[in-house]
Amino acid sequence: MLTDVDILDGGKSLAVTLTGGARHRFHAIWLRDNAWDDKTRAPGNGQRLITLGTIPADTIVSKADIKSGQLHLTFAPEGRTIAFEGAWLAANVYDKPCRQVHGWTCPEIETWDATLGSRIPQAEFGDVSSDKAALARWLAGVRCYGFGKLNGGPVKPEALLGVAALFGYVRETNYGRYFEVRTEVNPTNLAYTGLGLQAHTDNPYRDPVPTLQILYCLENSAKGGENMVVDGFRAAERLHEEDARAFDLLTKYCARFEYAGSVGVRLRSRRPMIELAPDGELIGVRFNNRSAAAVVDVPFEDMADYYAAYRRFGEIIDDPAMEVTFKLSPGESFIVDNTRVLHARKGYSGAGSRWLQGCYADKDGLLSTLAAIESECGALGVSEAAE
Ligand code: FE2
Repeated sequence: MLTDVDILDGGKSLAVTLTGGARHRFHAIWLRDNAWDDKTRAPGNGQRLITLGTIPADTIVSKADIKSGQLHLTFAPEGRTIAFEGAWLAANVYDKPCRQVHGWTCPEIETWDATLGSRIPQAEFGDVSSDKAALARWLAGVRCYGFGKLNGGPVKPEALLGVAALFGYVRETNYGRYFEVRTEVNPTNLAYTGLGLQAHTDNPYRDPVPTLQILYCLENSAKGGENMVVDGFRAAERLHEEDARAFDLLTKYCARFEYAGSVGVRLRSRRPMIELAPDGELIGVRFNNRSAAAVVDVPFEDMADYYAAYRRFGEIIDDPAMEVTFKLSPGESFIVDNTRVLHARKGYSGAGSRWLQGCYADKDGLLSTLAAIESECGALGVSEAAE
């Protein structure tokens, strides 16, 4: 994997050439900080044993050799020689062009609209409960598309907790460990009525928001009541393609969200509707008309344009060309990445019954479980997950 190494700039950096001819530079201080020897990292858990302050600020590479696929570097003034695996260096290259476009998405995800069709990630509850590879394929689909459906689960209260337990833990909130979604006479939340709901992300008034939501069907004989999902990242991409300024307004100014629907609860947050990382990566969407509070962080000069952008973003989200719709049968459930995918419910009539249970969980746990299985069993392609 390593074919050549050159020390640059008096040892402050070096350049390695990988098989195929690609040349990448690394800084001496970066290499020293990321060494994997047993005096820098604990052999058991891999955690770093030293702080950056332990490493001399004037660290340079005084000697560099390639031996058996490893890069052996001697660091001065410490006078220590440490080996680096060529594959590790290749996987951690940072000497590459910066992304300039705002709103880019990481390569592990694929944005979608109504044409997603049969590629909905879905699996049988029994399969993912008993087969790690089947679980990994389904979780990889959730990572890629931001949602997934699970069929054939038990029809009994609290079965949704078993879905969360497949990959992590329930996140308890003021709504409880889980909540009932069915018509109530005096609802504490409009979700507990038969009204249709505009596509939304849940609980944008929390900080952090619940990053996953599971909705599990126990009864569904009412007319209507289909569920739909919309990819908020695709909606943000569409807004960007149509009107870059509108996209910028929704990313650079914070919206405000609030929920004070029950005694003793007053949840508030201040976050943009479309959230970018500092390098422009699209990392979150918050959209919920029911809990949007007065926006007071947009200058007067930009407020009219901000509202036009907000309106257009909502129109894109409401566009039937964006939605994937399905009706859940008892024992079926779906999970959404609540930082990305909006969900909605069509209105339903009082005839028959509709009873779902919902709960929240955390995406980091899902991604951790998936990564652990993948490293144990080898990476499983998303194309397999869609089968
Ligand atoms: Fe919801």
